[in-house]
Amino acid sequence: MKRRDFLVKSSAAGVSLVALSACNGAGSGGEEVVTATSDGNAGGPGVAGTPGLAKPAMPEWGGPSPFQHGVASGDPLARQVILWTRITAEGLDEVPVIVRVSRDPEFSDVVYEGMGYARSQADYTVKIDAMLPEANTTWFYQFESLGYFSAIGRTKTTAHGHQSVEHLRLAVMACANYSYGFFNAYRKVAFRRDLDAVLFLGDYIYEYGPGEYGDPEVEALRPLDPPHEIVTLSDYRRRYALNRTDQDLQECHRQHPFICVWDDHEFADNTWSDGAANHNEGEGDFGDRKRAAVQAYYEWMPIRPVLPDREVRIYRSFEFGQLASLMMLDTRLIGRDQQTDSPVTARDRNRSLLGDDQQSWLFEQLEHSQSRGAQWHLLGQQVMLAPLTLGALPDTPNLDLGGGAQVNYDQWDGYETSRRALLGRIEAMGLDNAVVLTGDIHSSWAMDVSLDPGNWFAYNRFTGEGSIAVEFVTPAVSSPGAPTKGISDLAKAFLIPANPHIKWLDFYHRGYMILDVTPERCQADWFHLETVSEPSNQEHFAMGWYTASGDNHIQASKVPCAPKHNAPPLAPEHNVQQEALA
Ligand SMILES: [Fe+2]
Repeated sequence: MKRRDFLVKSSAAGVSLVALSACNGAGSGGEEVVTATSDGNAGGPGVAGTPGLAKPAMPEWGGPSPFQHGVASGDPLARQVILWTRITAEGLDEVPVIVRVSRDPEFSDVVYEGMGYARSQADYTVKIDAMLPEANTTWFYQFESLGYFSAIGRTKTTAHGHQSVEHLRLAVMACANYSYGFFNAYRKVAFRRDLDAVLFLGDYIYEYGPGEYGDPEVEALRPLDPPHEIVTLSDYRRRYALNRTDQDLQECHRQHPFICVWDDHEFADNTWSDGAANHNEGEGDFGDRKRAAVQAYYEWMPIRPVLPDREVRIYRSFEFGQLASLMMLDTRLIGRDQQTDSPVTARDRNRSLLGDDQQSWLFEQLEHSQSRGAQWHLLGQQVMLAPLTLGALPDTPNLDLGGGAQVNYDQWDGYETSRRALLGRIEAMGLDNAVVLTGDIHSSWAMDVSLDPGNWFAYNRFTGEGSIAVEFVTPAVSSPGAPTKGISDLAKAFLIPANPHIKWLDFYHRGYMILDVTPERCQADWFHLETVSEPSNQEHFAMGWYTASGDNHIQASKVPCAPKHNAPPLAPEHNVQQEALA
């Protein structure tokens, strides 16, 4: 649509421009267009919040469309959603960017108009926290700057906490290594019309340089930028920019709001609060690297900072009406003590995975979710919560290897005190329907969660009795698991008898999970890709596992959940030729 047409349509509809602070929470109904401008935060992308939209004077620009990295939305609330884009216009700074939100993809019913600035200090990224008039509604949005329109994006507000919601459907994704595979999973998820949001559980980028962690054949087609391990702010920004040139990822962002959290590779392999396995002294101070990585993350991801001045705090919660609460955790950066190889140290009472502040917050959130009557309590997080052992020995607190020798101390297994605190709290609260969603491990798992799965008195492997929660682990978008199906089957044959709470696993396939939630049950459907070595449309339904409300343990489903009713249309196909204004 041309700008002229937009203005004509707006006045024909009798709309008035009303300045409104994004902080006051009051959207507008009816015919009004809500407007807001952004002054941005020092060091952060602009977020709309200042009243008084004055039509900006656009700098001269004779170059191509500045919207080279697409559009994105995220952190949906009942009346707010973050809208993101980036301006690529060599030589320009302080570039005004306008965004409009409409009920329809033709923009005949604009409900919000906001403005931000693309500035060098935020790597020319722009975020606008749009105020929208209705909860639980699909919206279309489009940016305008330097004489161009962006592609049209599509997003959705969540239901108010008190609203009844019959059906929620989320894609759950993680681990997208650019040089290990094509982003076919993003493409498949992009075209699912009936999603409420995409949860991204971390490893959105990887820090490695060429030849360090990639498929050589894919890497030859998808060379890394910058061509070395990323350490500085400029490096991290370039790596996000590289991933965001991928058309499949752009399409996924364009069609769905994302709710994101980081894992380790947004920093460096096996990060903890004060260091990382893949960080050495030659790479400078870890604190500097961490700050650079956090800054680039907030610039490039469609995420709303929890605290404007403390962006390192990423843990936060969302409500999907009465149906579900979602708590997004940071098991990586804010409170994690250093990893250990020792089962004795793993049980140290002073060790923490979440840190005290986050753990207190989480317990408060669980209590809030229970007291407001939410049916499901979803935890979006990084590393596996359920124990993973080499032998199903009963747990005895005084025996070092109680519960069996653990396999991976980077998971909750390395932080036994934190796990006991969380599961103990869920039990003490009498909380049903806690569902843990996990990434990080490049494989697919369906599990009951018990503190002591090898102990018949604590957990019945046949009935699931004694299970405290359930856990579903999403496979990687492109990062590798087992190199062959044979090795995957071997590992499975070895691990399942030793871990009776693990009902299903697949180490081989890349793909994603669809989490389908109704008042009666919460089901995860795994969709696996045929390949990531080349662009491909081929996927198959691998398996479904669900927990019925009140059960707290899982059961198999041989068929995937039926789609949601009345799925809204996707944002229309984007024609670059039509981007330029007349
Ligand atoms: Fe990963």
